[in-house]
Parts: sequence; C-alpha cells; structure tokens
Amino acid sequence: MSNDLTFTHRFEPGNRLEAPPLLLLHGTGGDENDLLPLGKTISPGSALLSPRGKVLEHGMPRFFRRLAEGVFDEDDVRRRADELADFVESARARYGIAAPVALGYSNGANIAAAMLLLRPDVLAGAILLRAMVPLSQPPQADLRDKPVLIVSGKLDPIIPATNSAQLAALLTKAGANVQHPVLPTGHQLSQADLTIGQEWIKAVRFLQADKAAAV
Ligand code: MLT
Repeated sequence: MSNDLTFTHRFEPGNRLEAPPLLLLHGTGGDENDLLPLGKTISPGSALLSPRGKVLEHGMPRFFRRLAEGVFDEDDVRRRADELADFVESARARYGIAAPVALGYSNGANIAAAMLLLRPDVLAGAILLRAMVPLSQPPQADLRDKPVLIVSGKLDPIIPATNSAQLAALLTKAGANVQHPVLPTGHQLSQADLTIGQEWIKAVRFLQADKAAAV
C-alpha cells in the first residue's frame, strides 16, 4: 500500500504488454483491495491502479459526497473527479503506465463517468458497472471513439432503467463508442458482468492493435 500520491492506493504492475492498465474504482464502503480480483479476472496481465475514495459516509469510503441515495453533491463530484484525474496523471508518471481503462462499480462507476465527462483525456475507456448519470448539467465532452461499456441491472433498486439509458445516450452523443447490455439482475454484480467485461476488453485490445498496425 502506498500513501504518497494523494490517494491511498494499490498498484500492481502488468505482465502483458497488450493488456491495458486498469483504474479500479470501488463501490461505497469498499477500498483499494476490493476490485483487484475483478480486474485480474476481466483483464489478466493488466497493470492495476486502485485508489481508495477519500470521502467517508458513516465511515464508508466513497469517491464523492451524496445528499441521499442517488442524489449527488455535484460540486463535490466535479472537485473529486478533478482530484482523481490529477492522481491518475501523477500515478502514470510514477509507474510508467499508459492512460488506463476505468473499471468502476456503483459509486466507482459514477466517478468514472464524471471523469469521462470532465477530464476525457485521462481515461482510454471505461467499464461502468451499475452506473448512473453523475451530473445534471454535464459539459460538452469530446469522447470521440472512446470505448465505453455500461452494464446495468434491470432489477436495480438504486438505478432506474431510464437513468442508465440516459447515461448511455449522453456518452454516445459525446462521441463515445458505447455498449450497454442490461442484465436480468439487481445492483449486485453477477457472473455475466465478468463474462461481458472479459469479451469487451478483448475486443478493445483488438481495435487498439488494429490502430497500431495501421500507423
Ligand atoms: C452513488 O452514490 O454513487 C450511488 O448511489 C451508488 C452507491 O454508491 O450506492
């Protein structure tokens, strides 16, 4: 564990060049250890950068403040997304990694969505598991060709289907290449999330390899 890059975090180096680095962003009450197994399962050999959210809600770490479930303190969302983006840039320099693909769950997926909108250059793409629209008045972001996977749960009691559909539409309008499967499940992750994430990241790698080959 390392504390010197403004976020308590874990970093695990990758061992496969073609596997993109992952930025792991946990849900409410999680920490920097939570998503390491998920990252290794979805993208074996990826470098893993896993910060702990700095906001505490009744002692539970989060990445930004909320006023109620699903109601966000949007000034805090903006400030914290910026702070996290700065951390990612410093960590990239420290560890010598490329721009990461965010892999976020719930609150971690929401801060990743906010980073895509506010600091689009920081992420190479994103896997957003159980995400919702993070800002009511998002800026015009240029997400041209950025690959984004949103996986939602049809029975999610926290995120209405209209909200995750709105997020997918918002990111698509900004130019992102969005896939948005909806699973017959709730807010918790299922085996299908892992399988879909694995397939998606393989396809993204394939596209990146194509681009590199074309240069
Ligand atoms: C959030 O606060 O980001 C969402 O309500 C998801 C959650 O953390 O429960």
